[in-house]
Amino acid sequence: MAKGFLHLHITVVVLFMLFFGYKLILLFANKKDTLAIFRQKTKVVDMILGSLILLTGGYLLYALQSFESYLIGKLILTLVAIPLGIISMKKENKILGLLTMAIFVYNFGVAETNSLTFQKTKLVIQPEVAAIDTITAAPDTTSPANAILNQNDEVALKNGEVIFTQVCAACHGQDGKLGVGGAKDLQASTLNHQQTVAMISQGKGLMQPYEGILSEQEIEAVATYTEGLRSK
Ligand code: HEC
Repeated sequence: MAKGFLHLHITVVVLFMLFFGYKLILLFANKKDTLAIFRQKTKVVDMILGSLILLTGGYLLYALQSFESYLIGKLILTLVAIPLGIISMKKENKILGLLTMAIFVYNFGVAETNSLTFQKTKLVIQPEVAAIDTITAAPDTTSPANAILNQNDEVALKNGEVIFTQVCAACHGQDGKLGVGGAKDLQASTLNHQQTVAMISQGKGLMQPYEGILSEQEIEAVATYTEGLRSK
């Protein structure tokens, strides 16, 4: 459901920007008559698109239950940009027109990076649990070397839990069953380890790709932890 809304949201925003971009070009080309006719013809469409942007955006905020500053910033900027766009065209004001376009483009950047300053957030995870070896233990669990490896596995799992709580629980819930914004029930997941790792790295729908945000080991650890939720 939320995924459909996200697609609809992106589509209406792109359409709105295309219409506005065309009007801006007409304005700068001083084709005022053509602009007036085009504005008259697209008046209703514009109104519908403007309302849809806010409605779909509002629904997504509600579905995500996430009120991070970048989302609120986007909302405020959109609330400013839509009337600004209307005024700029009515008054045939090029500066206001450019400003509106700039806000829309900026908002796109914000949406892409989930940050008002376009900085992808790097997570800080406690150093003592961050160091993990991914070497798999041999069956003989009595040797001192294996004791260390087993300990490493435990550290990895603990690390996975820390990451899960910090990053994933907002949508999936601590037990994996929450399902905010269409998130899959992780206890019911049938993905194998490789597919789970791929899902976390590449993301899907409302779930962002975590490649580059989490290290390979961290993705590995959180994938293993997620799989452990299934037996609960
Ligand atoms: C913004 C919300 C959100 C966050 C945060 C999030 N997910 Fe997801 N997750 C989703 C959604 C939505 C889906 C369903 C994607 C689809 O199939 O369309 C999903 C699907 C998955 C799946 C696939 C399950 C299956 O059986 O198909 C796994 C595994 C998963 N998430 C793990 C994680 C992990 C691990 C994290 C943290 C690193 C995480 N997710 C963070 C929303 C989120």
